Amino acid sequence: MSRLFHPFSNPADVDEQGELVLVSGSAASVRDAAGRTYLDLTAGLWFCNAGCGRSELGAAAAEQMGRIASYSTFGDVAVDTTIRLADRIAGLAPVDDPKVFLTSGGSDSVDTAVKLVLALARIRGEPERNIILHRRHSYHGMHLGGSALAGIEGNRMHLAGDLATDVVEWDDPGTLEAAIDAADGRVVAFFCEPVIGAGGVRSTAPEYMAAVKEICDRHRVILVVDEVITGFGRLGGWFASERFGVRPDVLLFAKGVTSGYQPLGGLVLSGDVWRTLGQGLDGPWRHGYTYSGHATACAVALANIELLEREGLLAGGARLESELVAAFAPLAEMPAVTEVRAGVGALAAIQLTSGDAANRAVRGLREHGLLTRAIAGDCLQISPPLCMTSEEVNRAAEACADVLAGMR
Ligand SMILES: Cc1ncc(COP(=O)(O)O)c(C=O)c1O
Repeated sequence: MSRLFHPFSNPADVDEQGELVLVSGSAASVRDAAGRTYLDLTAGLWFCNAGCGRSELGAAAAEQMGRIASYSTFGDVAVDTTIRLADRIAGLAPVDDPKVFLTSGGSDSVDTAVKLVLALARIRGEPERNIILHRRHSYHGMHLGGSALAGIEGNRMHLAGDLATDVVEWDDPGTLEAAIDAADGRVVAFFCEPVIGAGGVRSTAPEYMAAVKEICDRHRVILVVDEVITGFGRLGGWFASERFGVRPDVLLFAKGVTSGYQPLGGLVLSGDVWRTLGQGLDGPWRHGYTYSGHATACAVALANIELLEREGLLAGGARLESELVAAFAPLAEMPAVTEVRAGVGALAAIQLTSGDAANRAVRGLREHGLLTRAIAGDCLQISPPLCMTSEEVNRAAEACADVLAGMR
């Protein structure tokens, strides 16, 4: 057994069952140290939109490292590549008059947004507005702020601390308005994944996002749309907000921006938010990370965005939407399955009867050359690389049918 402490693992279980050691990958497949290949049904951890083994992304990193790997972005300094990426993302994001703040991942972006909205409340002279609302089943990362906003109960770990939060029903804008009313002027922001990912892949009626935007605007509540999973192609466009016709005050991204080839995330702020912050601070914005805007990560992101565009992989996300429905929906008839959720981009989940069934299915699928994992306790995650072929989708669904057929 190695010395690696695996995140989200039970150490005793890993000690007993061993590790799966991967050594390479190509497109939608990965290979383990014993030479077995697996179809990757999860795009790593929802990130590998471009698929594995894209050496041009490595070449972009090498070119940048040969020039200048990175430099501080604090104050008024930045490497040219970092500025090019900020401008590129600003051109893609459905945010008015955008400014881009860069981080190393989704949790960094969430916690930056938590600090940002609380700062905005103080600047607006409304320090009493300190409650942040989020949805049941939500996942907003694992830093302290994001853990306090966990709509997956087990992930909160009693970490709300000084942060005042409240949960609203995941699919009912009316409960958002009721919570805002009940808090009597104290709600500062609503954090919202356009499609709930780690909480079990749950999509609402297409009008949901527009309804929450209207409610937030009417109550002067800041809408923070967490597109860490849904950004950069997974829903068939650059951002889900565009698909659902909303322009967030703050949009969060990570994962697909580099297809996971480098750790990178960020926030796109509207011009209004940016100007309020700029005019209200009496010193610098005292927040940032050593690797905010890391030039090598930015070079890879630029190359990845170009690749997604050049190879039509956004259309791949749209193609997978109907293919996942066609291939996986019939599994809903099986005794171990209570529901198949699909039909919103390259995102789906198979809801099983229990967590035990989900864990057994994950192990069984591995034997059939398919990698997935249990999410929200009792669902199987389906979020393939956007380059997964139609034949591979069908093969994956057949393997699921074989494994689930023998289960209760
Ligand atoms: C919606 C959402 N927000 C935030 C995060 C946290 O991102 P990271 O794990 O890169 O910190 C995740 C991770 O899965 C996510 O799904």
